[in-house]
Amino acid sequence: MCGIVGYIGNKKAKSILIDGLTKLEYRGYDSAGLTIMENENFKTLKNKGRVKELSELVNQESLTGTIGIAHTRWATHGKPSSENSHPHNDNSNTFSVVHNGIVENHIELKNFLKDHDYHFLSETDTEVIPNLIHYYFAQEENETKEAFLKAVHQTCHHLKGSFAIGVLSTHFPDIMIVVRKDSPLVIGKGDGENFISSDIPAYLAFTRNFYLLKDNEFAILSKENIAFYDDNLHPLTKESKKIEWNATSAEKNGYEDFMLKEIYEQPTAIRETIGSHLMAGQSCRFDELPFTKDFLNSIQKIYIVACGTAMHAGLTAKTMLENICEIPTEVDIASEFRYRKPLINKNTLCIFISQSGETADTLAALKLAKSKGATTLAISNVEGSSITREADFVTYTHAGPEIAVASTKAYTSQITLLAIMVLYFAEILEKNTSTLQDIKNSILELPTKAEQLLSNLTEIKNFAKEVYQNKDVFFLGRGLDYNTAAESSLKLKEISYIHSEAFFSGELKHGPIALIENDTLVVSILTVPDLIEKSISNIQEVITRGAKTLIITDKNVENTNFTKIIKIPETNHFLSPILSIIPLQLFAYYITKQKGLDVDKPRNLAKSVTVE
Ligand code: M6R
Repeated sequence: MCGIVGYIGNKKAKSILIDGLTKLEYRGYDSAGLTIMENENFKTLKNKGRVKELSELVNQESLTGTIGIAHTRWATHGKPSSENSHPHNDNSNTFSVVHNGIVENHIELKNFLKDHDYHFLSETDTEVIPNLIHYYFAQEENETKEAFLKAVHQTCHHLKGSFAIGVLSTHFPDIMIVVRKDSPLVIGKGDGENFISSDIPAYLAFTRNFYLLKDNEFAILSKENIAFYDDNLHPLTKESKKIEWNATSAEKNGYEDFMLKEIYEQPTAIRETIGSHLMAGQSCRFDELPFTKDFLNSIQKIYIVACGTAMHAGLTAKTMLENICEIPTEVDIASEFRYRKPLINKNTLCIFISQSGETADTLAALKLAKSKGATTLAISNVEGSSITREADFVTYTHAGPEIAVASTKAYTSQITLLAIMVLYFAEILEKNTSTLQDIKNSILELPTKAEQLLSNLTEIKNFAKEVYQNKDVFFLGRGLDYNTAAESSLKLKEISYIHSEAFFSGELKHGPIALIENDTLVVSILTVPDLIEKSISNIQEVITRGAKTLIITDKNVENTNFTKIIKIPETNHFLSPILSIIPLQLFAYYITKQKGLDVDKPRNLAKSVTVE
């Protein structure tokens, strides 16, 4: 999704802006641009393509300005082109704007502006914003900073949709105005300099102190000061947040790609996520979820709502909630949930899972659930992200920043956190303690088992090299193993562009087996004790039809008909999705490397999907 950065200080803005944009590249984009204030005039440079190309363009100019805004665009309205790239300036070149989000009523606003003699150079929804600001500023009696703020405020009140906006004006060359609603934006506070950005890691190397803007809060930034205003433009006092991550934890740490680094960070991510929620010999702890037995008994249904990988994590939580806590649970894809009129009332608990905490569909689903009276609980990896600010209750995974578009460590951390949370509910509900104890012990062993697994995976790398030219790969599983099949299939297709699908093994005979022919690759996951024999019969059926088979299992499955068996450490079967996915993440990774593709930034995808 689009990324915004901005700088106001004493240093040359150009390299700081390019640096910030580079850090936001992981969000996905197709064009980039910047505006720098040069002697009270704008210098706006933008192009279709990578930040590196923008940087080359910028370096051809001798730009000395110390204030600027910049943007990476992920096309929604209008094709990727330099005209459609941000920043967008108004007709008189006095207001320059970067925007993340969507102006849903842009056609209506464009028509209004055209009636007032404004014209448009791009196909974007964003271009209405600087022109509307110009329009409202022109209505003000005096050309003051207050009038500038009022013009931005009035403009925002006419925008339907989501926005995070940074605005510069040649009338006031020493300030910048920012505002957000349903799109991310943070402000970094430095010493004699300030920063804006779509996320914290972009400027972690410059400052650790960040302000998190709430919806419809405005800020005026100068070099020395940041003034905050609420939606009525009354001054606000805000506390900055000290970020403890170190800047290098957002870098590659010597790994070839972020995805590989993040796969190998899983033991740490799981350990950090377990944190103080679960300690040997103690009850589970979630101080942030002060639920009582009466409250949990009053819950008639739980909905787990999320997108993509986060939704797959929810599938495992559903099995645990139903089997251990005996609470009926449904897992919903957020984009479906928000439109399918789900049956929600005050006896519903809705759990929203999102690594970024900014996924537009998940956020909208949360707002819907809240409006219907459900209790809402958010699980995110990003402190202060939008869903965490909307939900009644919040708990965090501690996977650290995840940069690769393909989610890996966030997924295993999500299942880990959800598993402990289910046990916490079960303890409150006074469920069978011996089962709970076994799962708790197994959770505590997970980081070590993940380490063991990761230290011995050359076989999967070699197998990936053998099969990387396959056109189709199918993944099979029953019960919890299906969840790993679904997640592995998503991982493979999103980064290698190989067609892949996941099926419940038992469904094969009802259609999918027709796809099997000589040398089709079928990957099967075998960990759920009661279902192993049945799954093996299904694998036999595809072998008979000529398929090659890769088996991921924690059992001693001897079968000379299987093409390759990868053995993983055994754990309590509820937790097996946390370990069984790891070799398959690497399988997707090595196939993609073998194909020579960009693992971290697959085509057409964005890390954080902040539009519907
Ligand atoms: O940030 P979120 O967890 O809300 O993101 C949800 C999905 O967009 C995300 O998991 C996506 O499916 C990943 N690219 C999968 O690797």
